[in-house]
Amino acid sequence: MRLNADEASIARAAEALIRGEIVAFPTETVYGLGARADDSASVRRIYEKKGRPAENPSIVHCLTADAALALAANVGDRERELARAFWPGPLTLVLPVSPGSVAPEVTAGGSTIAVRVPAHPVARALLAASGLPIAAPSANRSTRISPTTADHVEKSLGTDFILIDAGPTGFGIESTIVDATAERLVVLRRGSVTVAELAGFGEVIDVGDEIVSASERPRAPGSFARHYAPRVPVILAGRTSLSEEAAQSASTLNAGVEHVGLIVLDGPTAELRGHVRTEVLPRDPVAYARGLYAALHRLEDAGAIAIVVERVPAAPAWAAVRDRLTRASR
Ligand code: TXA
Ligand code: MG
Repeated sequence: MRLNADEASIARAAEALIRGEIVAFPTETVYGLGARADDSASVRRIYEKKGRPAENPSIVHCLTADAALALAANVGDRERELARAFWPGPLTLVLPVSPGSVAPEVTAGGSTIAVRVPAHPVARALLAASGLPIAAPSANRSTRISPTTADHVEKSLGTDFILIDAGPTGFGIESTIVDATAERLVVLRRGSVTVAELAGFGEVIDVGDEIVSASERPRAPGSFARHYAPRVPVILAGRTSLSEEAAQSASTLNAGVEHVGLIVLDGPTAELRGHVRTEVLPRDPVAYARGLYAALHRLEDAGAIAIVVERVPAAPAWAAVRDRLTRASR
């Protein structure tokens, strides 16, 4: 059932978590589907609901950096400094797991754990009220677009669990994931915390654009090529070939071009009329990220048979957005 984010709902959701139920809640990135991280049966309920393979580990959310780092082993100064700089906020750290600190399902039986301290007040209130570390992947069916609103969660997973609605999320794309288990920091998934911001904390390798085929063993299991994808084909195109690409996808699918959706950067759009829907996103990477998933969801809901997306600038500030678009288009 869907509840507004007030004190009473948060208390109710916390009790449900403690009992072992799953709860969907907002974070500053996307909505998560959470369960108590210390209980196998609870965590398995998330995987069942999402249709997520058991080999894909989940991020654990904690109220404080101390609580998050306590789940890990061999935490060094660099990790404490990263925590101090970016938490609460959209950074996930992969660290060696402290054996037995969470249910084995959370880490998919692996030797590392992904932890983060969310900044969203509702996520924080839920962590405080439950007093538990919460394992939470994004609250969507496995491989689909992450939810940035409660409607998106409901569309993907229904509501036979508590869903706390606090409106649209602030960042709109998932957290930056950094593997801090070795000498060099490795960016496994790009996000709002950029490589440039991380560079002050040590040498950084960005494998965020590594696209892994399903038969390989990926470093972050989420780097499967078909992650973050709408149900329909997504095609990236330059401004001048948008109409042509739309016409081509329509003809490939034996349909009229009016069934093709478009996502374009803010600017004149007169020549692009005649598509099922044209979504216009801001020419600013932060605002674009905030609106991207909602635009994809709206086009899906409007019945688009394909989505043509205008290529975004090549500048580093657009790296996370480019990454999500590339994955969606595979
Ligand atoms: O912003 C976010 O990170 C959101 C909110 C809800 O916190 N969560 C999220 O979770 O995006 P999920 O499960 O959709 O994506 C987490 C990614 C997956 O690709 C998973 O494979 C990877 O993190 N991951 C989790 N634990 C890991 C670990 N120990 N080592 C490497 N990758 C890990
Ligand atoms: Mg996800």
